[in-house]
Amino acid sequence: MSQEMIIVLDFGGQYNQLIARRVRECNVYCEVHPYNLSLDKIKEMNPKGIIFTGGPDVVYDEDSPLCPKEIFELGIPVLGICYGSQLMAYLLGGKVEKAPVSEYGKTEVTLDKSSKLFKKVNRKTICWMSHTVYIKEAPEGFSVTANTPVCPVAAMENPDKNLYAVQFHPEVVHTVEGMKMLQNFVMNICGCSGSWKMDSFVETTIEEIRQKVGTGKVLCALSGGVDSSVAAVMLAKAVGKQLTCVFVDHGLLRKNEGDEVEAVFGPEGPYDLNFIRVNAQERFYNKLAGVTEPEAKRKIIGEEFIRVFEEEAKKIGAVDFLVQGTIYPDVIESGLGKSATIKSHHNVGGLPDYVDFKEIVEPLRLLFKDEVRKAGRELGIPEYLVNRQPFPGPGLGIRIIGEVTAEKVRIVQDADFIYREEIANAGVDTGLGQYFAALTNMRSVGVMGDERTYDYAIALRAVCTSDFMTADAAQIPWEVLGKAANRIVNEVKGVNRVLYDCTSKPPATIEFE
Ligand code: XMP
Repeated sequence: MSQEMIIVLDFGGQYNQLIARRVRECNVYCEVHPYNLSLDKIKEMNPKGIIFTGGPDVVYDEDSPLCPKEIFELGIPVLGICYGSQLMAYLLGGKVEKAPVSEYGKTEVTLDKSSKLFKKVNRKTICWMSHTVYIKEAPEGFSVTANTPVCPVAAMENPDKNLYAVQFHPEVVHTVEGMKMLQNFVMNICGCSGSWKMDSFVETTIEEIRQKVGTGKVLCALSGGVDSSVAAVMLAKAVGKQLTCVFVDHGLLRKNEGDEVEAVFGPEGPYDLNFIRVNAQERFYNKLAGVTEPEAKRKIIGEEFIRVFEEEAKKIGAVDFLVQGTIYPDVIESGLGKSATIKSHHNVGGLPDYVDFKEIVEPLRLLFKDEVRKAGRELGIPEYLVNRQPFPGPGLGIRIIGEVTAEKVRIVQDADFIYREEIANAGVDTGLGQYFAALTNMRSVGVMGDERTYDYAIALRAVCTSDFMTADAAQIPWEVLGKAANRIVNEVKGVNRVLYDCTSKPPATIEFE
């Protein structure tokens, strides 16, 4: 790749992907590689800079991940972070020891402002520390450029050799001026121009896919979610009719979603690809009839999805490549020094092992969700698709308590549509991680006109979350909820009551089943 690039060498820390993302935020292309990437490979890649990540090991212990000392002689600027800083000190003759006092969390660090790394950073600044081992003495030729009361070498550098190290983590937001420091390294020390943009990523990736796929056949299981849509469009741009997208409409999608996906990817859409929509609604409803147990419903939906997909794949015949919309958070690191292993079954609830393909193509595996959205915009995918909130694979199947029927699907689809419309009209969707309607299995007495009703209660949910592991119930303005509730009972037949779920996760979950 001829563009300017920073490489991150992965020593097993938790924030490695964040480092790459921060560098890309400086408009410089960045890739994460295992710590034992060979010197030859590094030379071939010709990066403008190298960043060593943190990691759980102690440099002087046996079997700790090391890199060859010659890396510092390549003339490429290096920034060591946490474990990476200790590694630099250790390999170059400094002293690394167990710290008498461990530091963890937000810590005030005093900096030498004359360092290029700390240009425009305050002399005293809050940084995120997480270490039990420290650099006691910097190697010869290095000067100490930061300290804390208990950490004598919180940063060190040898500017003549372009070697820099920080004990703290500039990549996490708790290091208040960390982004400035990374920018200083990438732009001022490595001399990057910052000309990389998402469109360069999109173009380069499309070219790489063309090279890889050649004249082969490519299959994509399209769910209509952001990731698989962006991956499919990239593939379509790269190989056109060699790509077939299989979109299984399991009848558990949001209102109009099947048609929206078809409008973009089908024959009337802008992309020149083969598109197969499988209307399997009845098939799924039949399988789900009488089933009330949440996990059983999930399993049936997942299994049936695979069966439908398999049938379609067989009809297409020998497929060389399978496209997955795997993104960075889906990538599991399989351990130090091993390249990342993919949850190849992550998407769409698990694809069959025996679809006849040679390889998996994952054009988004380096990106975070918001970066995927950016790429989607570059590719001209409509905003309503790019901005989709996450939607579970089993779809409305887990937003309907108890048995799933076509009638209940209709009720929850209509209620959800109104709720989303009212949230959007009121402009209160910013900051919401997910918001939707669910159909409780509760029926209760109501009165409409002069008639007694005995209908379902819809539950509305909206959560704020960054990682979906924990979530807070969002405080949606009462007028918005009131309006949505009013419309739902008036417009959706079969509903006479609307409830708002104000439980956080834990103890509840985001979805209902
Ligand atoms: P919970 O309900 O566990 O949801 O708090 C956390 C996040 O995961 C999504 N979710 C699923 N996604 N298959 C999926 O693909 C599932 O079975 C499933 N269950 C929950 C949920 O939408 C939320 O984003």
